[in-house]
Amino acid sequence: MQLSIQDLRRNYTYGGLIRNELPLEPMHLFQQWFSLLQSIEFPEWFEVNAMTLSTSDPEGGSCSRIVLLKGMESDGFLFFTNYNSAKGREMAMEPKVALHFFWPMFDRQVRIEGLVVKTSPAISDEYFASRPRSSQLGACASPQSQILLDDLQLDIAIQELDNKYAGQPIPRPDNWGGYKVIPHLMEFWQGKPSRLHDRFRYERTASTEAWSLHRLAP
Ligand SMILES: Cc1cc2nc3c(=O)[nH]c(=O)nc-3n(C[C@H](O)[C@H](O)[C@H](O)COP(=O)(O)O)c2cc1C
Repeated sequence: MQLSIQDLRRNYTYGGLIRNELPLEPMHLFQQWFSLLQSIEFPEWFEVNAMTLSTSDPEGGSCSRIVLLKGMESDGFLFFTNYNSAKGREMAMEPKVALHFFWPMFDRQVRIEGLVVKTSPAISDEYFASRPRSSQLGACASPQSQILLDDLQLDIAIQELDNKYAGQPIPRPDNWGGYKVIPHLMEFWQGKPSRLHDRFRYERTASTEAWSLHRLAP
């Protein structure tokens, strides 16, 4: 029997958050949560590092898509993409972005708001070089977010690049690389029974300031 949408619901019982056990720095709590995920073997299809990136445009529109978290620094979250993609063009005009993680096995979500900056070319080069050759070819050949002329355009572009760089490393294209999201707000949500979830929001207005911590109503 198929359940109606209205009847789809879970009770969240994994645990709770205790205010005086929370670290002063939200990155430390994020790292604790992420380390736990890294210590567990999940089915291959579940990507613990998948996150939703939301961007906005100057007309007030907004857009979300999944990207993969590929690194953390003490002050931010790294991902890689095509700088000329729709998101790349939006972030060039409006660097305020949001990230979102949902880890249902622990009844947890993390919301992040911050400013995005491009990583150094050295970081982009290092990550690009670490990717499988097929992914490198795909990144070079794909005019990400553009309308394709026909079904063969990509295959032909990949084949041409593969021939061009036969037996050689593929150089990172200038229009592909990393971004770092530097948060000024991070909210940790822990699902609890009866919808009385724990929400703690860290916030600061400047990167030199200490983080404030507030508990929010669920
Ligand atoms: C699981 C998953 C992982 C993805 N990882 C990335 C990524 O790391 N970088 C990226 O550019 N696109 C990634 N994508 C594709 C994006 O969601 C999106 O389709 C693409 O970046 C184009 O977005 P845009 O047109 O808004 O720029 C991923 C998609 C999924 C579903």
